[in-house]
Amino acid sequence: MCTPRSLLLTWVIAICYFMAGPYRCTASQKKTACSVHDGRADCSHLSLNVIPQNLPRNITSLDLSHNRLVAISPGSLSPYQDLIHLDVGYNSITKMDQGLCQVLPQLRTLNIEHNEVHLLKKEDLSHCSSLVGLNMASNRLKLKGEPFSALQNLEFLDVSANKLQSAKLSSNPQLPSLVSLNLAFNIFSTLREDDFSFLNISAFLRTLNISSVPLKSLEPGCFKPISGLHSLIVDGSDMSAEVISKLCTELSGTSIQALSLRKMKLVTLLETTFTGMQNATLTSLDLSSNGMNKIEDGSFRWLHRLETLILADNEIKHLTKKTFEGLISLKVLQMTKALVKSHSSSTPIIDDFTFQPLSTLENLILQHTAVREITAHTFTGLTSLKELDISWSSYTTLRNISEKTFISLAGSPLRQLNLRGTAITHINPGSFSVLRNLTVLLLDFNFINQVLTGREFEGLDHIEEIHMSNNYQKIQLVSTSFVNVPNLRVLILGKGINASASKLDPSPFRPLTNLNNLDLSNNNIANIRENTFEGLVNLKVLKLQHNNLARLWKWANVGGPVLFLKGVPNLITLQLDSNGLDEIPENSLRGLHNLSELSLQNNLLNSLKDSVFDDLTSLQVFRLQKNLITTVRPEVFKTPMSNLSLLAMDKNPFDCTCESILWFVSWLNNTNMTALPGLRDQYVCNTPHAYYNRSILNFDTLSCKDITPFQGLFVLSSTAVMMLIVMALLVRFHGWRIQFYWNIMINRTLGFSDANVEEGRNFEYDAYVIHAKEDSMWVERMIGPLEKETCRFCWEDRDAVPGKSIMESIVENMKNSRKILFVITDSLLNDPWCRRFTAYHALHEVIEASRDSVVLVFLQDVHDYKLSRSLFLRRGMLRSKCIVDWHGYKERVPAFHQKLLIALGMTNRLME
Ligand SMILES: *[C@@H]1O[C@H](CO)[C@@H](O)[C@H](O)[C@H]1NC(C)=O
Ligand SMILES: *[C@@H]1O[C@H](CO)[C@@H](O)[C@H](O)[C@H]1NC(C)=O
Ligand SMILES: *[C@@H]1O[C@H](CO)[C@@H](O)[C@H](O)[C@H]1NC(C)=O
Ligand SMILES: *[C@@H]1O[C@H](CO)[C@@H](O)[C@H](O)[C@H]1NC(C)=O
Ligand SMILES: *[C@@H]1O[C@H](CO)[C@@H](O)[C@H](O)[C@H]1NC(C)=O
Ligand SMILES: *[C@@H]1O[C@H](CO)[C@@H](O)[C@H](O)[C@H]1NC(C)=O
Ligand SMILES: *[C@@H]1O[C@H](CO)[C@@H](O)[C@H](O)[C@H]1NC(C)=O
Ligand SMILES: *[C@@H]1O[C@H](CO)[C@@H](O)[C@H](O)[C@H]1NC(C)=O
Repeated sequence: MCTPRSLLLTWVIAICYFMAGPYRCTASQKKTACSVHDGRADCSHLSLNVIPQNLPRNITSLDLSHNRLVAISPGSLSPYQDLIHLDVGYNSITKMDQGLCQVLPQLRTLNIEHNEVHLLKKEDLSHCSSLVGLNMASNRLKLKGEPFSALQNLEFLDVSANKLQSAKLSSNPQLPSLVSLNLAFNIFSTLREDDFSFLNISAFLRTLNISSVPLKSLEPGCFKPISGLHSLIVDGSDMSAEVISKLCTELSGTSIQALSLRKMKLVTLLETTFTGMQNATLTSLDLSSNGMNKIEDGSFRWLHRLETLILADNEIKHLTKKTFEGLISLKVLQMTKALVKSHSSSTPIIDDFTFQPLSTLENLILQHTAVREITAHTFTGLTSLKELDISWSSYTTLRNISEKTFISLAGSPLRQLNLRGTAITHINPGSFSVLRNLTVLLLDFNFINQVLTGREFEGLDHIEEIHMSNNYQKIQLVSTSFVNVPNLRVLILGKGINASASKLDPSPFRPLTNLNNLDLSNNNIANIRENTFEGLVNLKVLKLQHNNLARLWKWANVGGPVLFLKGVPNLITLQLDSNGLDEIPENSLRGLHNLSELSLQNNLLNSLKDSVFDDLTSLQVFRLQKNLITTVRPEVFKTPMSNLSLLAMDKNPFDCTCESILWFVSWLNNTNMTALPGLRDQYVCNTPHAYYNRSILNFDTLSCKDITPFQGLFVLSSTAVMMLIVMALLVRFHGWRIQFYWNIMINRTLGFSDANVEEGRNFEYDAYVIHAKEDSMWVERMIGPLEKETCRFCWEDRDAVPGKSIMESIVENMKNSRKILFVITDSLLNDPWCRRFTAYHALHEVIEASRDSVVLVFLQDVHDYKLSRSLFLRRGMLRSKCIVDWHGYKERVPAFHQKLLIALGMTNRLME
């Protein structure tokens, strides 16, 4: 016995807990004082006994509702003379004070609902002539005399729920500006002829609310004084069919346009109910929630001008071709839940040709209806129909749609067809082919399970939107799926397609060059190709969240990352949440200059490459929450964050160190953007230990300032060390060359000439001649003669030192030569012996001895680059006089010799 009760108790507690949940916040920080904002003071729910005196003098609106005021004394309101709106509803006020409007001359609306005002006299409101709205609902009003007579400007008067026994608020004409009068929930049962005569000067009265009034009788002419009425609300009144019929007759003399007869237990609509309205101007009739199960044939035939008929929430069993007879102006027929099947009743029936009288109908809503079937004539005659909504309904015919299913709509210029939640499992070729003008087709929440060959959409020449989301991932796409709908702008396939069974190459989307919005979310797609979205140049919105695209963007993917966004440069919104992404390839978001919303929540992103987001210059909304981001560096985030209006980056394991987070914390501190959801409590440090689980806003940015000079020092010292190392290596491996350049530089700048300088020692030879074997002939012929005259050369083969190895003798001879003369030809440069040893040693010698003593004789034009590569020499390193060119003319031989001698420092004279 005890168990169920305690279980119940647990439930009650749990429910209370959850219901209280959202309010716990407000409860914990319970308001203790009035809040003032933009001249509006909110002092509600403060248990006040008196009106606060410490508010700004210039407030224009004061809310004192839900307090414990028993009176409003004019004196306590006198500081607030600018008040325009005063709300003292839900207090215990028993009396209106005539001084109120005197101290508040600007007052326009006064709300005293839910108080205990009883007697209301003329004087009480006598100074309230500027009042526009007066709400006295739910008091205990007893009117004495003419309390409203002074309200010349009053437009809205609510005296509902006051147990008034008569609608007659006065006997003399008054309230000339009244627009709306609410008399609901009062207890008068009769409308007498003169009840509304006090309103016979209210030329603007449009709305009268008499809901839940137990009317039993109406005297003829009772609406005559208010014949300008447009809208009458009679909801919830317990009236018999005769009284309703009488009401309609009385209304026919008015300019009534809208009549609301909801919740009136009108179980059967009689043919005669609206007879009296045949001359009325009624355009809108609401008969919803009446438990209506029968509509007699011809019931509406009196309502020629009716444009909107609402029959929602009824239990109609049968619609015949005579039900809607005479509704020749009807534009909207709203029948949501009008035909339902209950356990005890059979399935409702819509006869063939039922809608034929409705030739002007544009919008037919049959949501949540249960009907036996759709035949070839169910919708025949709806020649103006633009929208048909049969969503969330069960029609057995809709399981397997074929070209016959909608044949009765062939004559309708239908624009939108809503087939959501109608248990469709299969669409046959040409099913919609009669709907030539259709632009929107809604097929979400069905069980469509087939290969979309494209023939299903045959004939939909004007279609712009197809929605097929939530089809349990059963639809298979092939390359022809959308060939018949090239004008498509919106294609919604979220949670709809079977990606593994679909063939995406060639891409099914290729024909859709006008596509604007493509939703492929929640489809478990793992394989998109680089060309899947190719050619979709108009695509603005692409939704790919909740798929399996991580592999495509991995660096290690076979064939490299798949840059599938290459073909859609005009994207504005891109959603890639929940895809397991742990990498974003460097070029995957290139060129998306228009992208304004990027969503990457719930992935595994950690370190992002510099500049991956650099093209996202228009980004406004950026969602990155629930990733593994530790660092927020400017190299990555500066560009995408420069124009944001919303950033969501919470729930990442931030590393709160200077390198990782300093820039971000400073950015957060300086941004004037306010849309940073969760900034206070969801941006939390994960490392280092000192900051673990603390908000990143607590990160001490000043601690990073001290580091800056040290950083400079570090950079400086490490640079110095690096340079030293480089120098050491250079000296070790190229020291001789450096020394060489150095010497030459010194000699050249100081202008020493060997010829004039005593070298301090005597040389055996004037020059050591290095040449290639192939050039021996030339050397003998051209240089040999000089030897006889003036100088002595050292020839490698001739002057080898006896008893020494070739190398030793070369070394010896070079030491004993004042100059070293290279005879440069291609052969020399290619001669490995020359290059490797002779030349190298020669240069070494030169450097050792610190002599500017190389002479180059060019027999051929050799490129400087080749020279430097082979001999480590450049023309520019030598004085120009040490470079002698041989031109090959006999007559120039003397000049050549002269130049050579100058080069060897043997003479400065010009020989004739
Ligand atoms: C009311 O006065 C305060 C200064 O007392 C001023 O700051 C505020 O802007 C004024 N408000 C209005 C609506 O005039
Ligand atoms: C309004 O009704 C009063 C009687 O209550 C009548 O004397 C007066 O002539 C009527 N005025 C108009 C404009 O109908
Ligand atoms: C009629 O008045 C009642 C009581 O004030 C209110 O609840 C209801 O919403 C009103 N009906 C319309 C259609 O305004
Ligand atoms: C409607 O108007 C016609 C002619 O204008 C009149 O004969 C008929 O009696 C009127 N019907 C009602 C119910 O007032
Ligand atoms: C669906 O309708 C087509 C053509 O009307 C028919 O060939 C097919 O057998 C039907 N399929 C099912 C499962 O009823
Ligand atoms: C489709 O619309 C055009 C005008 O937009 C109209 O001329 C044509 O008759 C309509 N087709 C059908 C089947 O109603
Ligand atoms: C935040 O910015 C203000 C001024 O813009 C500055 O005074 C303050 O030191 C900054 N705080 C941090 C933690 O950077
Ligand atoms: C934010 O501040 C910048 C200048 O610092 C300004 O140009 C921009 O308009 C401001 N944005 C908002 C929304 O206040």
